[in-house]
Amino acid sequence: MNLRIFDSSDDLAAAAARTIEQRLAGRQTAVVGVSGGSTPRRLYEVLNARKSLASTAVTWIVVDERFVPEDDPQSNAAAIGRTLFGGGLPASHRFLRFDTSLADAAQSASAFESDWQRMRLDRLDVVILGCGEDGHTASLFPGTPVLDVEDRIASEVFVPRLDQWRVTLTFPIIRAAALRIVLATGASKAAVLREVREGADLPIVRATEGGETWWFVDREAAG
Ligand code: 6PG
Repeated sequence: MNLRIFDSSDDLAAAAARTIEQRLAGRQTAVVGVSGGSTPRRLYEVLNARKSLASTAVTWIVVDERFVPEDDPQSNAAAIGRTLFGGGLPASHRFLRFDTSLADAAQSASAFESDWQRMRLDRLDVVILGCGEDGHTASLFPGTPVLDVEDRIASEVFVPRLDQWRVTLTFPIIRAAALRIVLATGASKAAVLREVREGADLPIVRATEGGETWWFVDREAAG
């Protein structure tokens, strides 16, 4: 496990931003997956403030979404928009998200796949992931049928624990990413991090198999 431990979430966000900038340096185009949840928000604010990716035509892809209207406080796309693109999406950048105004989550996943193909996307250069206390990442929750989906780019999934429909990138797309950056902060993540180190069969472990993965965590999460 490639692990970097930071004293503060500001240090963590700055280091993650630098890693992404270095990875994309000199590139004309890039595709970056961005997760929702609370942990990456500081990183998105830092990337937005530094304007360091303005000369690369970045396609930003929402990794997963809660099937709620975009003006709902739970919307990942809206939260990412406020932090990563506060002040506006740079002219050469694109933002691919799940359309939650469609009739249901299945239609949202299919429309996303059509957009992915229309935009001729192949794989993610970088994907920023979070990790839930139960070991989920994206909306790949333990015990849900989406864990078996290997032949799609995106899929709908009902999460009984949350009583909520979600839409998510699938395992094969996350595993194919050139670089996975997993962010985890706070003492509530210490137990799951220990399980990951022990190689437990969790979605976050399956999603980051093979390929290059870096964990950026703070001292509390590192235990
Ligand atoms: C979401 C996510 C999800 C998230 C984890 C961790 O929509 O919630 O994309 O996979 O990354 O639940 O969430 P926190 O960063 O809020 O702990």
